[in-house]
Amino acid sequence: MMVHIPVLLDEVINFLRCEPCKRPKVLRGEPCNIYVDANLGDGGHAEHILKKSSPTGILIGIDRDEDSIKFASDRLSSYRERVHIFHDNFKNMKYVVSGRAGFSKVDGILFDLGVSTRQLMTAERGFSFSQDAPLDMRMDRSRGVTAKEVVNNFEEEKLSNIIYKYGEEKWAKKIARAIVRERGKMPVDTTSQLSDIVVSAIPPAHRSQRIHSATRTFQAIRIAVNGEIEILEDAIRDAIDVLNIEGRICIISYHSLEDRIVKNLFREIEHGCTCPHDIPKCICGRKGVIKILTKRPVTPSEEEVRRNPRSRSAKLRAAEKIAN
Ligand SMILES: C[S@@+](CC[C@H](N)C(=O)[O-])C[C@H]1O[C@@H](n2cnc3c(N)ncnc32)[C@H](O)[C@@H]1O
Repeated sequence: MMVHIPVLLDEVINFLRCEPCKRPKVLRGEPCNIYVDANLGDGGHAEHILKKSSPTGILIGIDRDEDSIKFASDRLSSYRERVHIFHDNFKNMKYVVSGRAGFSKVDGILFDLGVSTRQLMTAERGFSFSQDAPLDMRMDRSRGVTAKEVVNNFEEEKLSNIIYKYGEEKWAKKIARAIVRERGKMPVDTTSQLSDIVVSAIPPAHRSQRIHSATRTFQAIRIAVNGEIEILEDAIRDAIDVLNIEGRICIISYHSLEDRIVKNLFREIEHGCTCPHDIPKCICGRKGVIKILTKRPVTPSEEEVRRNPRSRSAKLRAAEKIAN
């Protein structure tokens, strides 16, 4: 089994200013230096956040995947008194922080989006074209539609849009047509079946030498199955709401669509004013709530990419809350 290697670890620790509590609160016995890891995964970032903020830092870990919850809970068991772990979707962060963990505000939040190496490499999860398994791809196996349902039931145009938009696949139309044709003969039940259909839909001369031809389509279907893009904007707004002033948010994304959402949203929240651009003076009175700390996204060094090739598409953006 392959454990996930945390990406941009030092950068995250620095941006979140993970350290033990120095404020008078700790003397009064009040919790301080509370961090949320919204994508707990295998607990790699979480473990370092806990180490660096020892002995007072508190970590709230959220993951929608029960296997990740089990793995991370074992890994972090020696920090038991300072860790609160929840099987939930980060779109419910406000409720998790106050209703489930019992805190009103927090000091740092990390999103490390997407799937973990262990999820990808566990054949029966059906995320990977390189291992034959039933098509599933749900991060939370207790709810939602599976990849098999998407592939066998969605209309051709919808499939094509998903593959084009979430996979940035220029052969999307041909691939969707091939899926619909093949599923008319027999249901597409497995990762190998889907992979073969995708590969055969792309003309041989246009198949990439660099990545497997099914990579983009599998990514697209996974994003659709898990509704990964739709929830992001509201989740980030809620996360900024639960931050204390001077608290920081870090977001690592691996997909250009996600990075664009983070970039535009950070800019909007930093700017505050929502008046039309042609109005000479602000009349809405909205002020900026965050200060962006990363003019450009932070990306992994060559050394990190060599050590962990899965980090190569990572982009980290960070911001600090400056007002309520
Ligand atoms: C890239 S991994 C995180 C790895 C982690 N930072 C580590 O160091 O081990 C992403 C994790 O986020 C989880 N996840 C993805 N979307 C989620 C969501 N909306 N709510 C909660 N967890 C989510 C996945 O199940 C996966 O375990």
